[in-house]
Amino acid sequence: MSESLLPWLDVASAEGSSPRTVDAADQAAPLSEVVGALSCALDITEGQPEGHALRTCMIGMKLAERMGLSEHDRSALFYALQLKDLGCSSNAARVAHLFAADDRRVKKDFKTTDWPRLISSMRYAARNVAPHGSLIQKLGRFVAIGVGGPGEARTMVKIRCERGAAIASMFGLPRATAQTIRDLDEHWNGRGHPEGLRGEAIFPLARVASVAQTVEVFLEAGGLDAALDMAKKRQGKWFDPAIVKALLSLRNDTKFWAEVTGPDILRAVAAHEPPDLVLTADAGRIDRIALGFGQVVDAKSPWTQKHSEKVSELAVGIGRAMGMDDAAVRDLRHAALLHDIGKLGVSNAILDKPGGLTDDEVAAMRMHPAFTHRIMSRVRVLSRIADVAASHHERLDGKGYHRGLTAKQLSKPARALVVADMCEAISAERPYRDTIPMPDVLEILDRQVGSGVCPEAFEALKLHLDVVGYTPSRWSDAPQACAA
Ligand SMILES: [Fe+2]
Ligand SMILES: [Fe+2]
Repeated sequence: MSESLLPWLDVASAEGSSPRTVDAADQAAPLSEVVGALSCALDITEGQPEGHALRTCMIGMKLAERMGLSEHDRSALFYALQLKDLGCSSNAARVAHLFAADDRRVKKDFKTTDWPRLISSMRYAARNVAPHGSLIQKLGRFVAIGVGGPGEARTMVKIRCERGAAIASMFGLPRATAQTIRDLDEHWNGRGHPEGLRGEAIFPLARVASVAQTVEVFLEAGGLDAALDMAKKRQGKWFDPAIVKALLSLRNDTKFWAEVTGPDILRAVAAHEPPDLVLTADAGRIDRIALGFGQVVDAKSPWTQKHSEKVSELAVGIGRAMGMDDAAVRDLRHAALLHDIGKLGVSNAILDKPGGLTDDEVAAMRMHPAFTHRIMSRVRVLSRIADVAASHHERLDGKGYHRGLTAKQLSKPARALVVADMCEAISAERPYRDTIPMPDVLEILDRQVGSGVCPEAFEALKLHLDVVGYTPSRWSDAPQACAA
């Protein structure tokens, strides 16, 4: 991943530092700062360079200003543009399975393909199916995609749009924000997805967002002329002609385009939020955002449905049994909900691979806590717990990953999270076995006490289970839409 796109966000590393708890009043922050930084996690799931959603936001808001949209419309659009890909993880497993390929690469190519045209979509499929497979495998995947056809594509877009809209609603954003996400992939000529809406039947803000997101992809890939040429060609097909006209009128605004492609994108984006309608992220909203992004992570793989939520349930119980105060428990809950957010940067071809992983695949998988640290460090109100979240695969004996921390370097909340994560992962149902009964899970953990697992955290887990109990996750309860 690029290191330099959002340099102002590279706050002093929290790695190795002790977590600091704060009270709820300290947690209020501009909402745009929180979702803007987290939007980079959605970018990498879509195979886009970090900053894609932020640049899309800049372009969409400039169009909205040029078109004279009301402050309320611009406020709803502002968040829809940054969170448009909230549902992106929900079809990642399906994409990886269908193409037998890295879902991020397949999705990236999709963004520059004129997919309603048969010849374009066939070339797209030929480019992307089973890139490392034999001719027979390629043909098999090609046929599978052909059999699924437009119906399969429509289903995948529907899953993404509806899931994204539902999570945006959880964040307490305007209904128009959710509606924009829902209609994002509809086309002016009625050949888009998921409903095939035509012309003015498409939600107006979604028409703006559709232009903005596609222009950003072409701008990044080929520059401004390529982006504007694409928009002209798709005028009246993909896009509302009035919005393309507004876009073309921006051609000579060199200051604006320099800002879009410049290094200070988060600050530039914040300046486009309607000043009288600036939203804040108070403690309650941050809680909902952590829960929502936890769901985005869990939706990435059918084998991890509810993982983050269940880990947070266990971590909170362990934290309380270890005597943590309310603020510390709240921080631990957020760290637990977001601990695997770095998995959004790992291909489902690895996450869901049946059988053993190659050395390179293991190395890629083991990078996910580092990605978690990187993403969370960028969100000011979450940065103090980035270290805890990113330590969930560490062990007391230093044989864990990704930093090989030792007992002295692992804080109490980090130790609690390690035990919660292990308990959920060991107990959950897998494609090759049923759930594991809790007495057996405790026996497995007990064998690692002192070497991998903190004795105090383990005792706290047992205390929590005695009082509250726990039901292991069943992957077979996962929504069918996510099953690979
Ligand atoms: Fe993990
Ligand atoms: Fe985990």
